[in-house]
Amino acid sequence: MEDVAIRLAEPRDAFAVSALTLQDDRECGAVVEPGFLDRHADAWLADRARVTFLAEAPDGRPLGMVTASVVTKLPSSRRPDGCWLYVSLLFVTADARGAGLGGRLLEALREWCAENGVSRIRLNAAPRARSLYARAGFTQPPDSLMEWRADDR
Ligand SMILES: CC(C)(COP(=O)(O)OP(=O)(O)OC[C@H]1O[C@@H](n2cnc3c(N)ncnc32)[C@H](O)[C@@H]1OP(=O)(O)O)[C@@H](O)C(=O)NCCC(=O)NCCS
Repeated sequence: MEDVAIRLAEPRDAFAVSALTLQDDRECGAVVEPGFLDRHADAWLADRARVTFLAEAPDGRPLGMVTASVVTKLPSSRRPDGCWLYVSLLFVTADARGAGLGGRLLEALREWCAENGVSRIRLNAAPRARSLYARAGFTQPPDSLMEWRADDR
């Protein structure tokens, strides 16, 4: 897997990003509606506040991705201006798992944060992926972090 490239996704990658998302949805048991690829690709292209890295085989086949929303803080006199990231999906195709691509995608995201002055990444970890995130330096959030949900989704 050393010859797999990890690179920032560009607009031309919209359908690769959407196809990987569709694979993740299917793996989670979702029934994917007709037209999903177009709808997802359009939404991803329109979302300017998002950073996405792709793992790509030498023949161009997409093997994985990590995608995150960039949340920009309003200016404050108490702390420096800046952004943080919320990871909405980390996914590697089943045949490419266990070879370090998930770790490399997270590493690319952390490097991007360092280069862009982003100080925090948040995500919701699936139980099986917790050790991967822990190896990448993720820890439990502080007790002060709370959330509100309209329902069980
Ligand atoms: C999580 C995932 C991206 C890891 O990709 P990968 O290329 O196999 O990652 P690496 O080889 O760098 O690291 C392997 C680690 O992935 C995790 N992992 C392995 N199989 C997994 C699975 N089916 N689902 C979730 N995580 C898994 C484990 O933490 C494993 O580390 P361990 O062997 O020490 O337990 C990949 O398994 C995946 O896409 N799973 C389905 C989607 C998912 O669960 N995404 C994370 C949601 S928070």
